[in-house]
Amino acid sequence: MKLSTRVSELGPSATLLISARAKELVAEGKDVLNFAVGEPDFPTPEPAIEATVQALHDGKTKYAAASGIPELKKEVAKYYKNRFNLDYEMANVSINVGAKHSLYNIFQALVEKNDEVILPAPYWVSYYAQILLAEATPVIINTTDKSFFKITTDDLKKHTTKNTKILVLNSPSNPTGCVYNRDELLSIANFCLENNILIVYDEIYEHIIYGQEHVCIATLSDDIKKNTILVNGVAKSFSMTGFRIGYILAEKNIITAINNIQSHSTSNPTTFAMDGALAALQQCLGFIDPMKLEFEKRMKYFFTEINKIPNITCFEPQGAFYLFPNMKGLLNKDINGKKYSSTLELATALLDDLHIAAVAGEEFGAPGYIRFSYATSIEQIEKCIERLKKWLS
Ligand SMILES: Cc1ncc(COP(=O)(O)O)c(C=O)c1O
Repeated sequence: MKLSTRVSELGPSATLLISARAKELVAEGKDVLNFAVGEPDFPTPEPAIEATVQALHDGKTKYAAASGIPELKKEVAKYYKNRFNLDYEMANVSINVGAKHSLYNIFQALVEKNDEVILPAPYWVSYYAQILLAEATPVIINTTDKSFFKITTDDLKKHTTKNTKILVLNSPSNPTGCVYNRDELLSIANFCLENNILIVYDEIYEHIIYGQEHVCIATLSDDIKKNTILVNGVAKSFSMTGFRIGYILAEKNIITAINNIQSHSTSNPTTFAMDGALAALQQCLGFIDPMKLEFEKRMKYFFTEINKIPNITCFEPQGAFYLFPNMKGLLNKDINGKKYSSTLELATALLDDLHIAAVAGEEFGAPGYIRFSYATSIEQIEKCIERLKKWLS
């Protein structure tokens, strides 16, 4: 059977693949340190669970409104008013099956063949695949740790053509942990306004940020707000990855198009999961800070220790829960009688020889780096540092 051209170049998500391989090794009895996962290792807050169970008991086991229950849309709008003083109505909100699905819907609704989407690299893997699935062209802007993995308007100028339709920005970023400040966002947003480029702003890690303020780009001006599609969800902030609830805030015509797509694809996100997400937004904001403090503690330790290892240098993440060290200094060097010419090979060796699961930068469009998620215990991080030191000594 011939598969469609659309899927012919599509592989599975690398992060999920590595996690699966790590689980296999665990099943074989190996002491695997898993730094591949992209989810908080904290239990979901109790009020969210209770509300979900209650919803099941209350008979919320049937179809709901395809674009999400009105109560949750209202709560999302209220949350944006309280947190960012932004005015959105229910008609500006779409509830989706996780933020990954929010993004999928956005690309399906907005781009097609010959359209270009600017994507700064390193990028979260699924953006690239989803742009291709919408038959548009990802236009990559490469960045490095030297510029803190951030793009500037000069970069944008060089990559903008008459076909440019969207810029994807993710702050705090997966995989680098970089965070854009107000001035940087303002110049990027103004450039986009002047050049008729829509901004897709993925702020799913908005609460996991260290020592600085998260700036929602839509707060910068009314015109910028109109030119922005916000993506967010409950997965990372409330440790609710399995609930699969994400959401979009945008202009009404965009939301209507997205809702139409959703009504013919998934229909509503799981009915009772939406009650869980509602309870999270209403009752669980206090859950976030202790989790963030713990992430920050781990990050500081991991970052400090990994930087002490010769030939590895690491940029200090400002948000999210990933470390993205530069491992170029280890390539083509003799390590226990072997040489590795890419971080893809190096990451494979880390998993097979050291039982450390981490994701090669190649998967994020950034060879030379490896992503370590520190959504794991400090003990695991200590073991990882020990194993790396021993291996490299
Ligand atoms: C940058 C970014 N956006 C979106 C998502 C998707 O989140 P969700 O679990 O809500 O689909 C992730 C998850 O890893 C992410 O890292």
